[in-house]
Amino acid sequence: MLVSGLLVYIFFDTCLSLEINEINKDELFNIISLNDQETCKNDCDFNPDEYLTAPQIIRRHGYVSESHVVETSDGFLLTLHRIPANRNGEIGKQPVFLQHGLLSSSADWVLSANKSLAFILSDLGYDVWLGNARGNTYSRAHAFLSPDSAKFWNFSFHEMGIYDLPAMLSHVSNITGKEGDIIYIGHSMGTTMFFVYASLFPEIANSTVRLMVGLAPVAYTSHIKSPIRYLAPWANDFEWLAKYLGIKEFLPDGKIMKLLSYGCELFKIDKRICKEVIFAVCGFDEDQFDDKMLPVVLGHDPAGSSTKTIIHYAQEIYHEGDFMEFDYGVDGNLIQYGTTTPPLYNLTNINVPTYFMYAENDWLANPIDVYRLARKVAKNVGLYDVPLKTFNHVDFLWARDAPKLVYNKLVSVIKLFPVE
Ligand SMILES: *[C@@H]1O[C@H](CO)[C@@H](O)[C@H](O)[C@H]1NC(C)=O
Ligand SMILES: *[C@@H]1O[C@H](CO)[C@@H](O)[C@H](O)[C@H]1NC(C)=O
Ligand SMILES: *[C@@H]1O[C@H](CO)[C@@H](O)[C@H](O)[C@H]1NC(C)=O
Ligand SMILES: *[C@@H]1O[C@H](CO)[C@@H](O)[C@H](O)[C@H]1NC(C)=O
Ligand SMILES: *[C@@H]1O[C@H](CO)[C@@H](O)[C@H](O)[C@H]1NC(C)=O
Repeated sequence: MLVSGLLVYIFFDTCLSLEINEINKDELFNIISLNDQETCKNDCDFNPDEYLTAPQIIRRHGYVSESHVVETSDGFLLTLHRIPANRNGEIGKQPVFLQHGLLSSSADWVLSANKSLAFILSDLGYDVWLGNARGNTYSRAHAFLSPDSAKFWNFSFHEMGIYDLPAMLSHVSNITGKEGDIIYIGHSMGTTMFFVYASLFPEIANSTVRLMVGLAPVAYTSHIKSPIRYLAPWANDFEWLAKYLGIKEFLPDGKIMKLLSYGCELFKIDKRICKEVIFAVCGFDEDQFDDKMLPVVLGHDPAGSSTKTIIHYAQEIYHEGDFMEFDYGVDGNLIQYGTTTPPLYNLTNINVPTYFMYAENDWLANPIDVYRLARKVAKNVGLYDVPLKTFNHVDFLWARDAPKLVYNKLVSVIKLFPVE
């Protein structure tokens, strides 16, 4: 229980322990049962995006929304969201594929109203596709496995790289007819998946993706500052962990997070505390995180992933930050890989042009690790240090000034890689 205890601490320590205990549980239940109207009768801060799905948010903001279900070669059913045209109905010319990070979903890219990257790209005439990795809110389905089974959750970012990305990206190529012209933009785990994909299938990646932009890219983790690193010493004992954490869904009880998000919203006192939890994992940035974003973010994240994904990250930290396949222990590795240690992902294989955007105060994607990554990949076309000392891991998505600090530059870079 030590590890799950620690995880609970990392993710929502203070909110639960300080506030929920002091509140009458029945009262809390009544509050949670209230419908949106009642909760918001006199509250002008109410933001419907907290309760809507990604496609509903897209439509609410005046854009066309499409949903596409693709099946991976191992049977997962993933839902892709698409904004095919801008608000004037002009069809997007070049596909841009946005891939969310750990415990997140396509909603990440549309939560900041007119400052959302997905909307900015659509306005500029791009055909915007939003990926959803296996196991999250929108991709929690399989052709023959039930999400209640352990088999369903037997995946990490490795499987997202070798199954999910090939399925989603070839679907985008097929539908748009623009094979080879996709601009791939990943945040955090959305970059890790790409590195798995492009290092193991370099030719396919190179003939599918025109440019990869990594926002807070994560492959090496030697310099990670987040408290997540305290998990690392346990991460090599996979069986022990699996026994205690369960090898299924990570934090599956959405109610706890719903409770938190209501709690944060209704009991004004703990707003600050809830925000501190995000900061404790991602790096502190008081100025760029708008308090009004908190309930909206917690209405969508965490969006579900497997415990194995979390363990895989913790293992990388344990293995001195090297980027390698899942460690099943000596015996397990011999069966799985024929070697006592897991194979390293060969980043030098990646010949898709890459552009990395990073921040000094990012506790997960440390600049030193990003430089090492940039030296490894075959074709790094640039590095961009966000010009704000306090900018953190989630600021790439939701910062007040994300358009000015990050997206303007991003757009100028992707314009250099137009449809051929
Ligand atoms: C975005 O919305 C805000 C408030 O709704 C408005 O003040 C601002 O001008 C808008 N920005 C753009 C670029 O449309
Ligand atoms: C999970 O996958 C690994 C590797 O493919 C396999 O060795 C193991 O038996 C699987 N476990 C379950 C519960 O399906
Ligand atoms: C894309 O098209 C090719 C050839 O038409 C087909 O083999 C493949 O299954 C399609 N992929 C997807 C994801 O639809
Ligand atoms: C990658 O693809 C481009 C064309 O899309 C080609 O010019 C280039 O030679 C390829 N690079 C490698 C290493 O295969
Ligand atoms: C990694 O890939 C590069 C380029 O494809 C190759 O030259 C190198 O030998 C590979 N390294 C390993 C350890 O396999």
